[in-house]
Parts: sequence; C-alpha cells; structure tokens
Amino acid sequence: MPNPDQTRRITVPEIRAHKGKTPIVCLTCYHAHTARLLDRHVDLMLVGDTLGMVIHGMETTLGVTLDMMILHGKAVMRGAEHALVVVDMPFGSYEESPEIAFRNASRVMQETGCGAIKLEGGARMADTIRYLTLRGIPVVGHIGMTPQMVQVLGGFKTQGRDRAEWAAIEADAKAVAEAGAFAVVLEAMTEPLAAKITREINIPTIGIGASPECDGQILVMEDMLGLNPAPPRFVREYAHLAAEIESAVEAYAGDVRKRRFPATENVYNMKKEAGGV
Ligand code: KIV
Repeated sequence: MPNPDQTRRITVPEIRAHKGKTPIVCLTCYHAHTARLLDRHVDLMLVGDTLGMVIHGMETTLGVTLDMMILHGKAVMRGAEHALVVVDMPFGSYEESPEIAFRNASRVMQETGCGAIKLEGGARMADTIRYLTLRGIPVVGHIGMTPQMVQVLGGFKTQGRDRAEWAAIEADAKAVAEAGAFAVVLEAMTEPLAAKITREINIPTIGIGASPECDGQILVMEDMLGLNPAPPRFVREYAHLAAEIESAVEAYAGDVRKRRFPATENVYNMKKEAGGV
C-alpha cells in the first residue's frame, strides 16, 4: 500500500516516531529511475555502500569512496521526492575522529541534499554519533554484522548465535541510541537477540536478516528483485528480474541477427516534400 501523504518528504522525527508502531519500510537504492519507482512505497531509501558490490562489482564494500557515495546520493535525490534518503558513510571516511566524520558527513549532506547519514559501529562510534547529531547531522547506526569490518570478522557471519556474544551487541545498541542516533540497522543477527534489543532501546531497529521483531525492515533492492545469483538466506525474492532481463536480451539479439529489429514502426521517415506525392 502506498504511503498516504505523498505531498512532502518524510522527516527524521517521523521515522523515529514509528518506534513500536507500524513497521518502517526501507530499501536500498542507487539510481534516479529506481528511486522514482520506490518513492511511493517506502519510508526510507538507503544509498548503501553495498553499491560497491551491486553496481561496481567489488568483492567487499571497502573500496567504496566518498565521491562514489555522493554521486549515487545525488542520483537518488533526483528521483525521490517523498522518502527520507539516507546515505552511507564509506569505510575510511568517519572512523578516525569525530571532526573528520563531521567534515565528510557535512559534505555528503550539502552535496546530495540527503536527510541523514548512516555509519557502522556501536560503542566505539558513540562519541562520533554524538558529535554529528549535536551539530545537525542525523545519524542511523548499524550494528551486528558490519560489512566494513569483514576483514577483522573473517567473513560475513551471523551475530548472536552464541549467548556469550549478546552483552557486547546489546551494549552497542544502547550506546548508539544514547549517543543520539534516530534509528539503528541490525544486520544478520538471531531473532531473540534482535527482539531483546528492540525492546531495550527507545529508537527504531531496522532489520536486515534480523527477524520480524524489528521496528522496520530493509533489503538490498537488487536482492529482492532477483538480480543476485546467490542471495543471502534472509532475502525473499519478489521478482526474478535476472531471468527476465536475460530472456529479453536473448530475444533482442535474435531479432537483430535476423533483421526483425528495427521494424517499420521503429524507423524515422522523411518529411513529406512540398509538391510531392
Ligand atoms: O550498504 C547497505 O546496503 C547496507 C544495508 C545492508 C543495510 O548497509
């Protein structure tokens, strides 16, 4: 069902006010034309640094730069008039100090016009989240499986399977909320842990592979459209665009080779000449 009020953009306080109420609908988005398609249906679009893998074919998100995020952030802002647009801070652009994070995050907001930024990390990023929010930059946190830590974690691993891991992840969630983030992404974590965190903090949790217990859900759009040949288990495919694109391209290639395309209706005609028949 489309969002009821299509006349203005959803605000940060409105997203925060979803806590414990209707689930927040979020998808990643990297381009203007898909932003236009999503805009009536989602509350929040994330220009995620997964664009490095999904659009640019990288193996991890570590090679994504601030300029890439700004380029795609601008494209999405051109297509999205209603949803709150959040842009990810890429690896290396915010970890060093709150001051550097502010410099880069303010650049992202000024150049793209987006409404908020997202950064990865729990307790270790709390000072930075506080510094940014106190200076006018709304922040979405991101804890659990944090892809920018893939080299330290040794792979993309589900978090919280072992109860001994819970305390640190819960502490991360509380630190992010207390520091002023207005929402937090919980990535790849077990249902009981996600449910406990959702009960314990006063900001919305947005799950990706973190169960229906969260206050909202996010997926990578290309995954739910069936464009990822090996999607993670937590993805539900709502379309199978990879197969559709391949059969369309196969049909086009056949038509070109057999000279069935272009046909008469695809060809420009000359203007009728004066005095001609
Ligand atoms: O970059 C991204 O797409 C994300 C989502 C997985 C939440 O951070």
